[in-house]
Amino acid sequence: MTLKKLFIKYKSDKYRHQYYKVYDLFLAQKKNRKLNILEIGVADGSSIKAWSDYFKYSKIIGVDIKKIDLTKKKLNKKNISIYQGSQTNEIFITKLIKKYKKFDIIIDDGSHYPRDVIKSFKMLFHALSKNGLYFVEDTQTSYNHYFGGNPFDLKYSNTHLNFFKALTDSMNYREIANPFYLQSGYDGLIRNISFFNNMVVIKKGITNIKSNLVFDNSYENKRYETKIKRDPNKFKYFLKYKIIFKTYTLFFALFNFFKSLLLFRY
Ligand SMILES: C[S@@+](CC[C@H](N)C(=O)[O-])C[C@H]1O[C@@H](n2cnc3c(N)ncnc32)[C@H](O)[C@@H]1O
Repeated sequence: MTLKKLFIKYKSDKYRHQYYKVYDLFLAQKKNRKLNILEIGVADGSSIKAWSDYFKYSKIIGVDIKKIDLTKKKLNKKNISIYQGSQTNEIFITKLIKKYKKFDIIIDDGSHYPRDVIKSFKMLFHALSKNGLYFVEDTQTSYNHYFGGNPFDLKYSNTHLNFFKALTDSMNYREIANPFYLQSGYDGLIRNISFFNNMVVIKKGITNIKSNLVFDNSYENKRYETKIKRDPNKFKYFLKYKIIFKTYTLFFALFNFFKSLLLFRY
């Protein structure tokens, strides 16, 4: 049965929100694999039952802050395990990671509070397997202050959508011509990030492609190395790239540092 039919069968919101279209795109080829699939947010168990039917050879692990009555919700199935705990509880999440080691697919359909989504992602990303997929549903809460989002400061507020937008820099970290750039724990570890209506999908994967423009996060260094290979007149290039261009970079860095201090961002 298709995911669409399963979500209809079990009356999951994932049908109404049309999330099955996104899941189909990423999961159809994984259907018959043996995977560890973690979903945060069980509620009536609708989606857990759909995953269990669809991924017959996989382990379906559900997490919910509330106690879930397995018998009442008909979740007593061989490939389903349900745990009670919060997606933001470090001890609980650490125990879960210790038990399963790696998750191939993680779905965050829990509280949908921006800070909870970000905290869970930070705790679980290292437990996502190589080429693993992390789905975040209902990202519309980012645009709603009643849910901890911010509809008035779309670019710089601490919402989960802004967190994932900023994460796109980690795919291009080798291109950042900033010699003072401090690497993040996600740099080079994300293959792609896909944004859909109310949903984000992060695919883990190594992206360590060298830049053709910068070396060690410096444009001047790259140009200098290229030029002196071709022309031995080193002083001319030293003056241009190691003194003049570097001074410009330093001033540009200082300007942006003061700019960030002056802008009130929270
Ligand atoms: C939208 S429902 C999940 C629906 C389910 N995934 C489905 O598609 O059928 C959200 C669930 O997340 C749970 N939840 C809320 N806050 C949570 C938290 N901090 N940690 C874990 N679960 C949480 C709620 O108890 C609720 O059952």
